[in-house]
Amino acid sequence: MTLKNKVIVITGASSGIGEASAKLLASHGAKVVLGARRENRLKDITEDIEAKGGQATYRVTDVTNPEDLVALVKLAKETYGGIDVIFNNAGIMPTSPISALKTDEWNSMIDVNLKGVLNGVAAVMPEFTKQKHGQIITTSSVAGIKSFVGSGVYGATKFAVRNLMEVIRMESAQEHTNIRTTSLYPAAINTELLKTITDSDSKQGMSKLYASVGITPDAVARVVNFAVDQPADVNVSEFTIYPTKQA
Ligand SMILES: NC(=O)c1ccc[n+]([C@@H]2O[C@H](COP(=O)([O-])OP(=O)(O)OC[C@H]3O[C@@H](n4cnc5c(N)ncnc54)[C@H](OP(=O)(O)O)[C@@H]3O)[C@@H](O)[C@H]2O)c1
Repeated sequence: MTLKNKVIVITGASSGIGEASAKLLASHGAKVVLGARRENRLKDITEDIEAKGGQATYRVTDVTNPEDLVALVKLAKETYGGIDVIFNNAGIMPTSPISALKTDEWNSMIDVNLKGVLNGVAAVMPEFTKQKHGQIITTSSVAGIKSFVGSGVYGATKFAVRNLMEVIRMESAQEHTNIRTTSLYPAAINTELLKTITDSDSKQGMSKLYASVGITPDAVARVVNFAVDQPADVNVSEFTIYPTKQA
């Protein structure tokens, strides 16, 4: 298929879904370029991939800073000669009821989950448009297709990136630039994400749910692998990934 030797930039690659995807994609011959803020984690993951015969590099990246995304894409081009895919996966989920007015957290979610994705899109768009191919995969959430109590702002960011991916796909088809887009809608996946919740009721409820039904991030990594591996004329737009046991 088409995955081998593709150059794939992954944000939020230092844990959870990003880490699992980086490892799986690299094990199948992709060249992965990892971005996140925690350098020690990025270094360990890169070394692990290389020890298993894969190809990986990393750069400390804060997705809220557009220049960091430009530098990450530049690293991909300098190290591996180009870029084929960006996986916009970095995200935070400090859920809470709107009445709690955690406005700093609202702003952080917009900065990371929405503007961070836009920064990734802006960093790859000139290259993808010029080369007339590319793929943009973004981790939305089931909270991006359904409304959940406590997810007013988190869900708003995830609905927004869903719209963004679909419009990029449609515009690219019109502009003949062959850019493929994919939105992922994971449900309860056991990662470090719940650590970003500060509201105690939200944290308790989510922790209980995840402990009872949560599945490993490898489930999402396999879907990313599938989306990247499709032939150039096939765009798989959307995947919802639920634990079988989640109601
Ligand atoms: N786990 C779930 O159940 C679930 C369900 C639906 C959607 N999602 C989405 O899946 C994505 C990945 O989350 P996860 O579940 O794998 O949780 P995770 O283990 O907490 O991973 C989140 C990743 O995002 C990175 N990140 C956070 N803020 C960042 C910033 N400003 N700049 C760069 N990187 C940043 C973190 O790295 P650093 O802290 O090192 O920067 C980390 O690598 C998120 O978009 C999340 O909303 C998760």
